[in-house]
Amino acid sequence: EDIRLTGDIQPGTADTHGVLGSVGSLGIPAIRWDESAEGPVLVLLDQTRLPAEEAELVCTDPQGLVQAIRALAVRGAPLLGIAGAYGVALAAARGFDVAEAAQALAGARPTAVNLAYGVHRAQEAHQAVLAARGEEAAAGAALAAARALHREDAEGSARMAEHGLRLLDELLPGGQHRILTHCNTGALVSGGEGTAFAVALSAHREGRLRRLWVDETRPLLQGARLTAYEAARNGMPYTLLTDNAAGSLFAAGEVDAVLIGADRIAADGSVANKVGSYPLAVLARYHHVPFIVVAPVTTVDPETPDGASIEVEQRSGHEVTELTAPRALSAGVEAGGGIAVAPLGTQAYNPAFDVTPPDLVTAIVTEWGVVAPVTAEGLRELCDRSRQS
Ligand code: MRU
Repeated sequence: EDIRLTGDIQPGTADTHGVLGSVGSLGIPAIRWDESAEGPVLVLLDQTRLPAEEAELVCTDPQGLVQAIRALAVRGAPLLGIAGAYGVALAAARGFDVAEAAQALAGARPTAVNLAYGVHRAQEAHQAVLAARGEEAAAGAALAAARALHREDAEGSARMAEHGLRLLDELLPGGQHRILTHCNTGALVSGGEGTAFAVALSAHREGRLRRLWVDETRPLLQGARLTAYEAARNGMPYTLLTDNAAGSLFAAGEVDAVLIGADRIAADGSVANKVGSYPLAVLARYHHVPFIVVAPVTTVDPETPDGASIEVEQRSGHEVTELTAPRALSAGVEAGGGIAVAPLGTQAYNPAFDVTPPDLVTAIVTEWGVVAPVTAEGLRELCDRSRQS
């Protein structure tokens, strides 16, 4: 299905007045709630336009947000959760049918479990007060839930960075780390500084990052467009490579650890993340390099028993058969929208994610601590601990 941004999305401004979210190392926060003259709005940093320009998208209704999610204007598991929660708050504040909006938002993309989590959390908060206190109070409760999730994500991000750096130092003592990462896991996906990227950034601040190897991340170049953008803004030593070049980099002994995020972690420890993560795990195992997954506990889904049960999003083949410049991505990836790099009518296989089995994962780092080795029992204990506090 083609992806196109339409509806109630308007170009915004770079005015950060009324910012709720932290700007962090970005010029504009990845997401913020704002009050406009016409009512509340959700303002997104349009990730389809980076790094060419830092532009905002203003969502005035849940359907506009659904389209922004599908087009990857807002993306990355933790941020999808935050966006989903604000989307419910937006629906409530603007008088849309909240149940209908919640269903559309939760179903906008299937793999990152954080999206459904954020949506349901805000929806539950809304429902809990609706009957007794009415629409306005219920809308306020949904917004409070979204803000709480946003804040928790920022705090969790800082704790993941701490746990992750400690683990790196244990695994690679005395190291000046050379870290390979895939996709984008920084401030663009978080209320804070992200997941895997936050660990690398923390190593950099401690003077312990020798190099960040950045996979370009085909087909939509989240590594080249977004991670390189964040690394440059933070003054990190980084080098961009095509996904295919990773093998020779491992063979040359240039990678000390792989750090990636996750979209969903099944109960058995299987990890769904951006397509291309699984081949890195295989390479890492062959070359005896730690393969570390960094994600908040909200990415662990006890309801998904194993890797085979994770629904992997399949995206339009046009993302593979055509090249689309960053600036034009937001106009829609569809036939004729980009530069054809394959004969007309070519079929493409375009899964957005792949699944890495737990035995290839050295450790899962969360804000509640590290699970290593990765086992169903270890994950369950960690989740229980997070719920009890
Ligand atoms: O399709 P995307 O860009 O939303 O995919 C994002 C990823 O795969 C990230 O690595 C994942 O969400 C973890 S973000 C901390």
